[in-house]
Amino acid sequence: MNQIDLKNRRILVTGGAGYIGSHVVKALGEAGAEILVYDNLSTGNASAVLSGRLVVGDLADTVLMKKTVESFRPEAVIHFAASIEVGESVSRPLKYYRNNTVNALNLLEVLRACRVDQMIFSSTAAVYGEPELIPVAEQTPLDPINPYGASKMMTERLLADLSAADPDFRYVALRYFNVAGADPQSRIGQDYKNPTHLITRALKTALGVFPQLGIFGRDYPTPDGTCIRDYIHVDDLATAHLVALKHLMDGGDSDIFNCGYGHGASVAEVVEVARTVTGVDFKIVDEPRRDGDPPELVARCQRLRTELGWQPEHDDLAYIVKTAWDWELELQKRQESAG
Ligand code: UFG
Repeated sequence: MNQIDLKNRRILVTGGAGYIGSHVVKALGEAGAEILVYDNLSTGNASAVLSGRLVVGDLADTVLMKKTVESFRPEAVIHFAASIEVGESVSRPLKYYRNNTVNALNLLEVLRACRVDQMIFSSTAAVYGEPELIPVAEQTPLDPINPYGASKMMTERLLADLSAADPDFRYVALRYFNVAGADPQSRIGQDYKNPTHLITRALKTALGVFPQLGIFGRDYPTPDGTCIRDYIHVDDLATAHLVALKHLMDGGDSDIFNCGYGHGASVAEVVEVARTVTGVDFKIVDEPRRDGDPPELVARCQRLRTELGWQPEHDDLAYIVKTAWDWELELQKRQESAG
């Protein structure tokens, strides 16, 4: 168990009404933290904030942000608020550099002005691009292949430069691999307007929202020809944030950690698990490769366990898919009752 006591510790969470942010807010609440969520609700939902207080605000609004930070006086900030669609980042790069890089700079300026000196940053495996060596380790040179990954890499660089110049400021960047699953009680989960992720698309196909699931390429150099990814349950990812926070609060140095389980599943394997969990033999069709998909992306992730004491509890693809499926059923119920 990752038992972490954050009783009365004041934590500001940007993007805490979103998918991953809301699971971290839930975990922070269970650990006793005092939480303030700052979110513009562009993709998040107020109802997903299970603990603490919500201020509806944008990171571009530095006046409101400063006022919020000054009155809440957080000890640390967990920064999620960002745009996250790889495909959209290619067609709208400026949106990504503004939301992910410029807004992070805004936030850092406010934090430094208010003397807040600890930050956990949501980064991504997309900073690696198409790494040659799998599993990919944190020291692998960064070479993102899309503006999404580049915008996150630039923010990592901002953090590194700031902490070098100002030793009082310390941060942990967490590079997420493929995050999936939902709260086992189905209170919160992924709720994107245009879901593109494999597990969500598969489950929505099982529900009949989509007529079929496309398999993007069967000619990759992997055992079954489909791409391999390291799927991590969102609650285990949430715990990674808590151990990272504890590290900083205990005076630990700035650092960067991969977040995954260290082994992968292929697209074809995920489809089989989704068919078993849902009991629906939904239709699949072979489609061409999607641009920018590396054949295999699996984390080298021992450091998170050995150095921060992270203990994942849901390293089980069937559990990940089952919690995501229960959430999809709950979402459908909510939509039906909303008319
Ligand atoms: N896939 C399909 N059909 C679909 C959707 C996806 O075959 O309908 C395939 C993709 O081609 C890929 C795999 O399933 O091979 C996983 O795709 P996802 O879209 O679920 O996830 P990605 O690996 O592309 O990207 C995710 C996040 C990124 C993050 C990356 C890091 O969306 O933000 O993981 O691993 F950077």
